Parts: sequence; structure tokens; C-alpha cells
Amino acid sequence: MPPVVTIAVTPARRLHGRLVVPGDKSISHRYAILAALADGRTELSNYAPGADCRSTLACVSRLGVEVKEGAAGSVTVLGRGLAGLRSVDGPLDAGNSGTTIRLLAGVLAGHPFTTTLIGDESLSRRPMRRVMAPLAQMGAALEAVDGHPPLTIHGARLHGIDFRPETPSAQVKSAVLLAGLQADGTTRVVEPATTRDHTERALAEFGGHATVDGLTVSVNGDQQLRGQRLAVPGDFSSAAFWLVAAAMRPGSRGTVDEVGLNPTRTSLLDVLRRFGAHVEVGVTSTTAGEPRGTVSVAYDRVLPIVVTPAEVPALIDELPAIAALAAGGADVVVQGAAELRVKESDRIATLVRGFRALGFEADEAADGFAIRGTSQPRGGVADAHGDHRMAMAFAIAALAATQPSSIEGADAVAISYPGFFETLPRLVASSEPA
Ligand code: S3P
Repeated sequence: MPPVVTIAVTPARRLHGRLVVPGDKSISHRYAILAALADGRTELSNYAPGADCRSTLACVSRLGVEVKEGAAGSVTVLGRGLAGLRSVDGPLDAGNSGTTIRLLAGVLAGHPFTTTLIGDESLSRRPMRRVMAPLAQMGAALEAVDGHPPLTIHGARLHGIDFRPETPSAQVKSAVLLAGLQADGTTRVVEPATTRDHTERALAEFGGHATVDGLTVSVNGDQQLRGQRLAVPGDFSSAAFWLVAAAMRPGSRGTVDEVGLNPTRTSLLDVLRRFGAHVEVGVTSTTAGEPRGTVSVAYDRVLPIVVTPAEVPALIDELPAIAALAAGGADVVVQGAAELRVKESDRIATLVRGFRALGFEADEAADGFAIRGTSQPRGGVADAHGDHRMAMAFAIAALAATQPSSIEGADAVAISYPGFFETLPRLVASSEPA
């Protein structure tokens, strides 16, 4: 295991600043995968710099796709067409990335060879039955160890299915749709709740088509994708940490430009308004079907927050940031979020432990957590347990503390936001009077 890095966080009176955040992780994975399945050349800009999206590039490159990386997130992919991937010797490593393993499982289910996908310690604990069951129903054979990676996929000729996942999951939906592109007939996914729709939007950009009717998404198997030039917007889930920090520290204001504003991702803004923050949003353009623009959040009032089960699917990656709102002094309660237990870490247990370590009163429920609002927690040593979003949530909460704090495993931010700890002091420093 690589050494764990501890980073100190100094309390900050307020934050002030304007910034852009790295390219969106979910969108980058999809562009790389669809580019690999397209005919011809795709040129991507602002591709997400984190380790997860590098895992996807490394996997598609081992599957025979030529990938060239340039400066500042520019990536060129020479696609091999829909059934064109080549078998690999040895396992494919998805690293820490659930999106990589699940989406590639869908892709490889339709290729007539056997592939084993592996991952790090965290990914090896994550549930794969949710993709194995529908892909097997479509005609592939899959094996895992008690439902966990290593995940072996014996690809086959696939046929369309009607699939109703029990849990809302964009990764599962996308895996089945990607398999559906290679299947005979129509593949339909009926979601229990709306999840991020980047796959559907990206597919249209690559010259394919997904039909969306309420909670039903379907694709036909007779599609051909063509290489494109696409720019990835900033990652709203990374911006979330700065927006929360601005909402909960008195006198703060944070503005994020060029950030993705896909409505399936931005429910945090409703929570921030309920919390009492002043929120301004403006879409400036839409590229590749994805709206992007500027979000400004300023501290105003501090009111208690309850996130209800119905809200969870559209907020799932922002719940760690929302927990940090408790450092503004109001209680934060999250219900109906059992999915958090099967993310990069058990995020309910890790959050509650970490917030207690920072001096908050916090309680765990089977499907959520409650954190008592404290505007001056004592600070302490919080362990991110190798989970990028835990490290960022603890760092933001620690800004309100009366003493410096330490975030153990802070290096995990490299998964989605490698520059997070370099940006933090910049926003804090610019808050001091000139
Ligand atoms: C993602 C979907 C979500 C999210 C993850 C990225 C995606 O996971 O938590 O960080 O890119 O499709 P689930 O689909 O498992 O909910």
C-alpha cells in the first residue's frame, strides 16, 4: 500500500474567491469509453485529471485503443468501432474506480472474449451483482468472488432486455445501456428514480441515440458511433466543497466558473438555499448536450437541513460535502442513503467517525447520519479511510474549528481533485483583508 499522507488544515475566518474546478469525472469516463467504441478520432479537452479517469484511459488503451494524452487535459482517442476491442493478457486494473469497472463490464459483455477486471482494496469490497445480473440476463457469463471483484466477464452475443434495477444507479444504467448498444433488439432500463444522465447525452453527441421517456431509457443495438471533438465541463461534485465552505463560513463568497450544471447533478443548490445561503446560478453555454456556467454562493443565514430519501439519488456524491454544513452551526440530517455504505468507503461510518474526531456530535443510522451543528468545533485528527470525498469534507469542516486539524489519508483527493489542497489556502488567503 502507498504511504498515507496527512495534511494539516488551519482554521479560516472566511473564504473568498473565484475559480474553475477540474473536468467532470463522470462525463470524462463516458467520453473515453464512447470514444473507444466509436469509429475514428475523438479529441477531448479538459479531461478529468484524477486517478479514476486515468484508470479508464489505461484500461481502454490495454484493450487495443490508441490513446494520446497532451497538456491540460487534452486526450486523443482513436476508436475501434462498436465490437472492436481486443482481448488482453492478464487482468485489467480499474484502480479505485467504480464507474470504470461497472461501465467496462457492460462494454466487455458484448465482446467475444474473456476479461478479468480488478481494483484496489476499496474497489474489491464493492458490490458487482447489480451489474452481473442484468448482463447475464443479456447473454454474457460473469464471475466474481461473492459478488465482489475480481470480476470476470465472458463476453457473448447479447440480446436486449427490459431491466428494472432495485437501486437507482447511473453506473448500472450505463453498463446495461453500453451492453445494449451491442445487443440484438432493444434494451430498456426503467429506473426507480432519476440518476445522472451523462451516458444518454454523450451517446447523442457520438451520433448514437437513447430514447428517454420518464424513468425509462432505451437503446437499440444497431447503432454506429463516430469520433467527436468534445470539451468536458468542470465537475459540480468537486465545486460542491467550495460552495459548502462559502455557505457555512460567515462573510464568505465563492464563485465557480465553467462548471457542469446538468440538472441531474445540481440538487445541492436547493439544499444550500434551504440552509439559508445566497445562491446565484447562470448557464453560459451548452456543449455536447451538457449545460455549464457560473455558480456563486455567499453566506447569509444558517438553518437546519434534512435531506430526505427522495432527494438522495440526485445528491449522492454531495452528501459528504453537505455533512460539512454542520460546521456552520445548524444540524444536518440525511435519511434514505444506505448506498453511502458501498461507496469508496462506508461513507456513513467514515463520516460519523471523522466528524466526531473533529469535535462534532454525530450519530450513525443504518441508512444515514445526523450531525449536530457546531460553529466552533474543537478540531482534531480525521481519517479519510482512502476516500477522496471524505478527505475534502473533513478539510472543509475543519476550517470552522478553533484549532488546526489533520486529515489522514488526504492524498486520496488525487482520485477526483488532485489540486484540492493547493487551492484551499488560496481561497482562504484571499479572504484576509489586504
Ligand atoms: C457515478 C454514479 C454514482 C456516483 C459515482 C459516479 C457515475 O454511483 O456515486 O461517483 O459516474 O455514473 P452509482 O451509480 O453507483 O450511484
